[in-house]
Amino acid sequence: MTAPLGQSKPIVVPVALGARSYDIVIGRELLASLGVRIKTLRPGARVAIVTDETVAAHHLAATETALKAAGIDGARILVPAGEGSKSYATFEKVCEAIIAARVERNDLIVALGGGVIGDLAGFAASCVRRGLDFVQVPTTLLAQVDSSVGGKTGINSRQGKNLIGAFHQPALVIADTALLDTLPKREFRAGYAEVAKYGLLGDAAFFAWLEKNWQDVFAGGSAREHAIAVCCRAKAGIVGRDEHETGERALLNLGHTFGHALEAGCGFSSRLLHGEAVALGIALAFEFSAKKGLIAASDAARASTHLAAVSLPTQVKDVPGGVPPVDVLMDLIAQDKKVRRGSLTFILVRGIGEAFIEKNVDATEVRAFLTDKLK
Ligand SMILES: NC(=O)c1ccc[n+]([C@@H]2O[C@H](COP(=O)([O-])OP(=O)(O)OC[C@H]3O[C@@H](n4cnc5c(N)ncnc54)[C@H](O)[C@@H]3O)[C@@H](O)[C@H]2O)c1
Ligand SMILES: [Zn+2]
Repeated sequence: MTAPLGQSKPIVVPVALGARSYDIVIGRELLASLGVRIKTLRPGARVAIVTDETVAAHHLAATETALKAAGIDGARILVPAGEGSKSYATFEKVCEAIIAARVERNDLIVALGGGVIGDLAGFAASCVRRGLDFVQVPTTLLAQVDSSVGGKTGINSRQGKNLIGAFHQPALVIADTALLDTLPKREFRAGYAEVAKYGLLGDAAFFAWLEKNWQDVFAGGSAREHAIAVCCRAKAGIVGRDEHETGERALLNLGHTFGHALEAGCGFSSRLLHGEAVALGIALAFEFSAKKGLIAASDAARASTHLAAVSLPTQVKDVPGGVPPVDVLMDLIAQDKKVRRGSLTFILVRGIGEAFIEKNVDATEVRAFLTDKLK
C-alpha cells in the first residue's frame, strides 16, 4: 500500500472522563486549523505557547500563523530542548513567564513539543492560578501516541524521573502527523516502540497489521494516521476506565520495568533513548514470560523479530557501551517498582496482545533471568 500524503478528514478520538472529557484530533496538516479549533473551544481566550528551541525552529512560525489567522493573541515561552528542561529551574521560569504573559483563568496554555514539553507545560498549567486549561500539540511520535493523552504531567526530582507532578487532563489534543516529518529518524523509531507496545499488550490484530504495514507508518501517509488513532483509542479506553492507575492503566507499562532499569543504568543518556529501552524491555518481558511457561517461545521470537525489523534494540548486547551488572539493574528495578517481601510487580503476557499485571514475581527469578541475558 502506498498511502497518499494529502489532506484527509481528521480522525477524532474522544477521551471520556465526565466533565474533563476531551477530543484527540489526528490528521495530516492539522496545525493550520489550530486557531479555529481553539477559538471554538474557548472563544476569546488568549494563549501562551510553551515549546522547546528545536521544535520552535521547525514549527513555531506555523503555529503562530494559525493562531493569528483566527485572531488569537499569543505569547511564546521557549525552553532548551531535552529532558533537562523537566527541572525545578525550568518549571519556575515557565510559571513566571505564564504569569508575566497575563494568562488568566479563562485562557489556555499550548504545549507544542514532545513529551518533555507536554509534561512540563502541562504541570505548569496545573499549578499556575491553581489550574489553567491546556492544549497539547504533540510533535513526536511518542507524544502523539502516549504522553499527550491521559493527563500525567510533571518534572523530575533529583531522586528520580517524574516524581513531582499532577494528573491534569488537557482540554484538547491536536496530533498533526505531518509535524513528525521533521523528527530525526531515531526519535521516530523510538516512538514506534510505544506503537508496537499497544499491539503487543492488548490488540493482536493491530500487531499483525503493524508487521505488514510498518514501513507505511514510517513513510507518513494514511497508515501513520491509522496507527496513531489505534494507539490513542486504546489509551483513551484505558484512561477512561482507570484514570489514576489503580489497576488496568498499569498495562501501559509493558516493557517499562526492564526498560526503566536499563535507561537509568545508561544514565538517561543518548546511548539509549526511552523508546529504545522500552523495545528492549518488551523483548525481555516476552522472553521472561516464555521462560515462566506463560507463552510459547515462538511468540517471544515474533515480538522481538518485529522490533528488530524496525532496527530497535532487542538484545542487551545491542546497547552501545553495554549495560550495568545485574546487581545494579536489580537495585534499579527495586527502586522503580514496589517490592513486597522480595516480590516485584511486572507486566507479563499470556500471548501476543494479552498482557496482564503480575504482582508476585519472585525477585530471585528475575535476577536469574537477567544474569543469563547478560552472559
Ligand atoms: N505524561 C506521560 O504520560 C508520558 C508518557 C511517556 C513519556 N513521557 C515523558 O516524555 C518524555 C519523552 O518524550 P519525547 O520522546 O517526545 O522527547 P522530547 O520531548 O525530548 O523530544 C525528543 C527530541 O525531539 C525534538 N523534537 C520534538 N519534536 C520534533 C519535531 N517535530 N521535529 C524535530 N525535532 C523534534 C525535541 O526538541 C527533542 O530534542 C520523557 O520526559 C518522558 O518521561 C510522559
Ligand atoms: Zn514509555
